[in-house]
Amino acid sequence: MCGIIGYCGHRPAVPLVLEGLKRLEYRGYDSAGLAFLQVSRLEIIRSEGKLSNLEEKVAETANTFAPISIGHTRWATHGLPVEKNAHPHKSNNGSLAIVHNGIIENFQELKDELAAKGYVFYSETDTEVLANLIADELDILLVQAHQKTFAQNSPEYVQNAQNSPLQYLELAEKAFASALKKAHGAYAVVLLSPLIPQHILAARLSAPLLMGIGIGEYFVASDVPAFLPYTRDVIFLDDREYVVISAGGYSVKNLFSAECVQKEVHHIPWDLQGAAKDGYKHFMLKEIMEQPKVLQDCLVGRLQNDSVCLPELDALPVPDSIRIIACGTSYNAGLWSQYYLEQFAKIPVTVEIASEFRYRKPILNKNELILVISQSGETADTLGALRLCREQGYPTVGICNVLGSSVAREASACLYTQAGPEISVASTKAMLSQMVVLLLLALYYGQRKQLSAPYAEILQELKALPGVLEKALPTMREKAKHFAYQYAFARSFFYLGRGTAYALALEGALKLKELSYIHAEGYATGEMKHGPIALIDPEFPSFALAFDDENFGKVRSGILEVKSRQGRVIALLQEGTSLENDDLWYIPQTKLPEFLALPAMQLFSYEMADYLGKDVDQPRNLAKSVTVE
Ligand code: F6R
Repeated sequence: MCGIIGYCGHRPAVPLVLEGLKRLEYRGYDSAGLAFLQVSRLEIIRSEGKLSNLEEKVAETANTFAPISIGHTRWATHGLPVEKNAHPHKSNNGSLAIVHNGIIENFQELKDELAAKGYVFYSETDTEVLANLIADELDILLVQAHQKTFAQNSPEYVQNAQNSPLQYLELAEKAFASALKKAHGAYAVVLLSPLIPQHILAARLSAPLLMGIGIGEYFVASDVPAFLPYTRDVIFLDDREYVVISAGGYSVKNLFSAECVQKEVHHIPWDLQGAAKDGYKHFMLKEIMEQPKVLQDCLVGRLQNDSVCLPELDALPVPDSIRIIACGTSYNAGLWSQYYLEQFAKIPVTVEIASEFRYRKPILNKNELILVISQSGETADTLGALRLCREQGYPTVGICNVLGSSVAREASACLYTQAGPEISVASTKAMLSQMVVLLLLALYYGQRKQLSAPYAEILQELKALPGVLEKALPTMREKAKHFAYQYAFARSFFYLGRGTAYALALEGALKLKELSYIHAEGYATGEMKHGPIALIDPEFPSFALAFDDENFGKVRSGILEVKSRQGRVIALLQEGTSLENDDLWYIPQTKLPEFLALPAMQLFSYEMADYLGKDVDQPRNLAKSVTVE
């Protein structure tokens, strides 16, 4: 969802910004743009659609070595994805341009006030309102400082600014902060102005923004890959902080007090290789295929002599109940874990969709633990739910993949999933890693409560999984291709599962619809006869998960019921079991079949989407990190 990059340094900034935007493509976008200073003149180039359109325009119109630039990929929130709504947006007087991720909730009110002062708006965006608001604040300050003696954006005006750069920088910072204090909602905003031609200002509130520290060059961006070829040293900005960068240095300040804030510099452990396709056709395929390593990495340091170590949680009490809150795929991982947390830790678990939870005045239990799951750690609804619970004094634990993300920093404790960067918009390896952490959590609490359960046996299975999955993946891919070609005719699909397979059925359906745009629904197998079975006919196939567990017999009956209505079924089974069906898909025998079934379903959706010619890594209308409600 919206990608931002800003650069000040010694390299030509425009190609660097374009390249950075490409590495943020995974976030999802529908238009793009950039701004730079050409001999102190503000230049803006924008275009609809893919970044290649912007690149073409830049090649045609900008032959520049400018060392300062800002860029943006936009995922539409206010207004259609057309050029006039693409970022950067400049103020009416041309004194500044901004790029913005987030939503300014009171934009209409601010727009009306500015319109009454004579401001004109050329786009439908809240961002243009914010640009003019900052410019207006700056104008007021310039008048107060008796500086505004020249026509706006005239060469003299810019010259005047250049003659007293420090004063202008101070005024620009004040105007920036003062405007942002008036804006309600969420923002990561980056500003470029010919009045402060050596500097970029950037601030955040409830939207991701971080800073990269190079040698004689500094970056701001929505995510690390944007500047990863140049530096791995990163500062994570907190809400209501802003940063001033130039080629000569940086300072982080509080938006309210303007006081400098000391920040820790983090070193990112992975390199560009981790965020590259590695010879695979798509990021999604690469991320599915690297899941054996993800399983292994996720276990590192967490197992010791048949017991689970989660030191991050040792200081928190064992809860009486757990409320899991998440969205999308992360929600499905949470729902899956309910079975294991209840079975192995004997803790009652409720699983909630974050966007529903936060607006229904929930009543929480005493000694309840709030467990939020988020790959990105920036999902607005999940973060909102976390904050709601934290304000009420509940302990919160985040399960996150992104180091230093908002959820990771705001929760009482964070369990990192260690899956590495997930670039494909559709989540795959992140879910698998969440499942590992959640299973470990169930065992961890069971051990802390000194319950007796086959923990050692489960841990043995878990440790064996990377090898089992590694071996199974090539055959799985072949099978997935085979079934995808056979079933590509379908307009709709049911995914059926019972017990731990139910949440996986929801995930299988989600993956198929988001990638191939085929309508799919996940159902508890036992629910089919309560209504959905009415839809079954030869054109409406099902994907059934029949694990070798206590539910097998019932799932088998469910499948036979579908078949007797002439429904075609792909049945995913474990070796050593069988049922009366043509399309059987065998996965190896293990006590944790979900860790094999999940990649199988991911591959099926992948092959289906690829066969149908869909944009696998960036499905239409989707964003990687949903930072708006
Ligand atoms: C689906 C998908 C989404 C995310 C959801 C939550 O493939 O990726 O459903 O799972 O938007 O995102 P996080 O986990 O970042 O909070």
